[in-house]
Amino acid sequence: MALYNDSTYDDYGERIADIYDDWYHSYDPAAIDLLAELAQEGPALELGIGTGRIALPLQDKGVMVRGIDASEKMLDQLQAKPGGYRIPVTLGDFADVPVEGEYSLIYIVFNTFFALLSQEEQVRCFQNVAKHLTSTGHFLLETFMPDMTRFQRGQNISLVAMDDGYLRIDVAKHDPVNQIIYSQHVAWTEAGARFYPVRLRYAWPSELDLMARLAGLQLVARWGDWDKSPFTATSSKLISVYRHES
Ligand SMILES: C[S@@+](CC[C@H](N)C(=O)[O-])C[C@H]1O[C@@H](n2cnc3c(N)ncnc32)[C@H](O)[C@@H]1O
Repeated sequence: MALYNDSTYDDYGERIADIYDDWYHSYDPAAIDLLAELAQEGPALELGIGTGRIALPLQDKGVMVRGIDASEKMLDQLQAKPGGYRIPVTLGDFADVPVEGEYSLIYIVFNTFFALLSQEEQVRCFQNVAKHLTSTGHFLLETFMPDMTRFQRGQNISLVAMDDGYLRIDVAKHDPVNQIIYSQHVAWTEAGARFYPVRLRYAWPSELDLMARLAGLQLVARWGDWDKSPFTATSSKLISVYRHES
């Protein structure tokens, strides 16, 4: 199988589903509070819902949540969890927003928006989100702030975890022309290595705002973290909230 194919989304979810919750189970409770505040009476829609890391605690707060994901295995994990069966899910490409109805909150967290690998796909996603937002609804994106200082000669290697008999590293290369970061999460045990390729097309805050405007949305808030701390030059995280232009 080719390491990186040309499809609009790869099999990231299918490859990582069985260990996803071991690696990424935690979340910031402030994220759930902020999403619940924006959802108000709901319903909310999560793009790239995965195993429900965020959707399940949000549902526990009383918000009606549904989700879209391209990975059947990730959705199977979600639906096997307590309360998971109460979250309706759609298997599909979130750039299409392939669901019925309108939502007071549509959200996409953990850099998942950058899984759309071209500007065209990302604009299409904003446009389809706009069609499913209520007139006063909000679209929230949690993304990383691109940090080019991570790369030397366009490459980065970082140790994530090391133990007797276990090693996990992240290897990345940067394509500045297409704004794509190609990564491999590699986990080694004595049984051998497992590879989890990830491709992300990053966008700068100003580009996100312009994509939103092309979809008839305007920025209403931008924070550096879930606690609503200001977005500054040193912020590594970017939380952007849009709504229909007034
Ligand atoms: C990093 S995980 C995030 C899962 C969850 N939102 C969370 O915060 O834990 C990204 C998820 O997005 C899904 N995904 C990636 N590209 C997609 C696409 N174009 N359409 C639908 N789902 C996609 C993957 O299958 C995976 O479940």
